[in-house]
Amino acid sequence: MMRQAGRFLPQYREIRRRVDFLTLCKTPDLAAEVTLQPVDALGVDAAILFADILLPLEAMGAELIFAKGDGPQFPHPVRKREDIATLERVRVEDKLGYVFETVRLLRRALTDRVPLIGFGGTPWTLAAYLVEGGGSRHFEHLLAWSVADPDGLSELLARIADVSADYLVAQVEAGAQAIQVFDTWGGLLDAERWRRLALPALLRALEPLRGRVPLIYYINNGSHLLDELGALPVEVLSVDWRVPLDAVRKRIGGSKVLQGNLDPTTLLAPIETIEREAEKLLLQGAGGGHIVNLGHGILPMTPVENATAFVRAAQRPIGAQSGLAS
Ligand code: CP3
Repeated sequence: MMRQAGRFLPQYREIRRRVDFLTLCKTPDLAAEVTLQPVDALGVDAAILFADILLPLEAMGAELIFAKGDGPQFPHPVRKREDIATLERVRVEDKLGYVFETVRLLRRALTDRVPLIGFGGTPWTLAAYLVEGGGSRHFEHLLAWSVADPDGLSELLARIADVSADYLVAQVEAGAQAIQVFDTWGGLLDAERWRRLALPALLRALEPLRGRVPLIYYINNGSHLLDELGALPVEVLSVDWRVPLDAVRKRIGGSKVLQGNLDPTTLLAPIETIEREAEKLLLQGAGGGHIVNLGHGILPMTPVENATAFVRAAQRPIGAQSGLAS
């Protein structure tokens, strides 16, 4: 589940009472412990490294703050060509070694119980936070830059792509068995700008990973880009709930496994409803490889027993749930 190693688990919140988010990411013992919590509590079929997509930007020299309740903030946003030079092409082993150490600890702790998924953001989505200075309602700085000076923005994206590539390769070398890249804001772009700006940087970040481990690409709000996404050099396409998986399958053909895509608010419904919706999802994903997942991050107020009910429903054979299939 997206964000399974996160705020909805009471045992996570307990640790967070003692340490702030960035310190948690940078303390391998604790980050490994938090990664394992949902594996133990929910019985999910994979562990997701506890880290954040924004860490490589901090490593490149961009000050990053997680203020209580406000989400991530970059107090010195990068908004024009001259700002790009402030970002360093760092050696990831020097600056992000704590992440790779967490991966190594986890592989030892998991001893092949479940696979470990590493991750990062796509260059476009990382740039979205860096250019806006945090989350945003309109992404006006980013989108205005994309029309006014696409070559300048491409320069920023390429610089982020190079460090991202090193970061993801190092996760694999430390033991990550699959890599997921999050393109949370990829859907902001029309297909033309996505092809012109987001795609080249994404390919540059993924190139050194090809053939090493399965790659999962996630996009939020990207159903207008399905033709482009069907051609990406990844094994798994992960989508949000706005488009049913059978429709995605029809559109992109059979070459990729699909991942997703339950609306996370479904997990706030009664357990019978969750089971029924899980079964519907399984039927929609049938007829091709399907990794059952949420369509976006699990919400912090999700009851643990509801998350567990979803996992159990997904692990039963199709038709063995509520009888909906018969
Ligand atoms: O199981 C997991 O998925 C845990 C690892 C993980 C985190 N962030 C930990 C985290 C992963 C895969 C991410 C990805 C991530 N981070 C994305 C892409 C996925 C998505 O949700 O679209 C994005 C956009 C970020 C950037 C980020 N980090 C934001 C916007 C926020 C604040 C909003 C929020 O949901 O809390 C974070 C903080 C963050 N990253 C938390 C966790 C557990 C919450 C920190 C806390 O308060 O303890």
